[in-house]
Amino acid sequence: MIKRLVVGNWKMNGLGSTFVEVSKLSDALDQIDIKNDVLLCPPATLLAGLSQKFSSSKLAFGGQDCHSQASGPYTGDISAEMLRDAGATCVILGHSERRIRYNESSSAIKKKAAAAHRAGLNSIICVGETLDERQKGLAIKTIDSQLTASLPSGCNANNVTVAYEPVWAIGTGLTPSVHDVGGMHTHIRDTLSKKFKNGEKFRLIYGGSVKPENVSWLAGADNVDGVLVGGASIRAKDFLEIIVKCGVVHDDFR
Ligand code: PGA
Repeated sequence: MIKRLVVGNWKMNGLGSTFVEVSKLSDALDQIDIKNDVLLCPPATLLAGLSQKFSSSKLAFGGQDCHSQASGPYTGDISAEMLRDAGATCVILGHSERRIRYNESSSAIKKKAAAAHRAGLNSIICVGETLDERQKGLAIKTIDSQLTASLPSGCNANNVTVAYEPVWAIGTGLTPSVHDVGGMHTHIRDTLSKKFKNGEKFRLIYGGSVKPENVSWLAGADNVDGVLVGGASIRAKDFLEIIVKCGVVHDDFR
């Protein structure tokens, strides 16, 4: 049985005042028995403060991107070692907002993932097709090529989680059908099983417009081991509901 993972990706949102929301979330999680791992990825400015303040909570903290080098003349960038030093256990890599807006290639993501593992972080490697690719019947081909080119050597089910995030579902309120999510996750599971020893054990999470209202069926799709949540992770109330419902699916829907 693969333990489920619920990830909150705050993107470029959150000021010092947001600590209040994390306090509410942490207090609520203390009162309940959760079956999932929960990872919060705030902007880098909040990472050290949050990870220190909530070090004994049920929350783990992660980064949203990293550089492939450990240090050097890269103004504005953050290394995996720095994230680790700030209390991160994991980093999101290859998010479509970075692949598309910053022209990040799969080979650059592969180097970043290798850097994350070098620094002792786990990585969440995102893959996803655009609407155009889906409409042209190229979704599987796109995912296959992103998987092949983005996963570094030495990756395994303990240090990598794969997030399937159809680009057209991110921040739009649109979601694929349960059949499409399950079909793609099953395809990714089969691909990783053939490619890696124990590849069937990789955690595969779904992301794109996950909300309290749709998480039960999205997380209940075949081979979905958790969710990556953007907009709905910022309010403690919504994120808590997603965490709880994602855990319930585990027992009742599978
Ligand atoms: P969303 O974002 O939940 O706001 O669609 C998901 C993501 O970007 O990972």
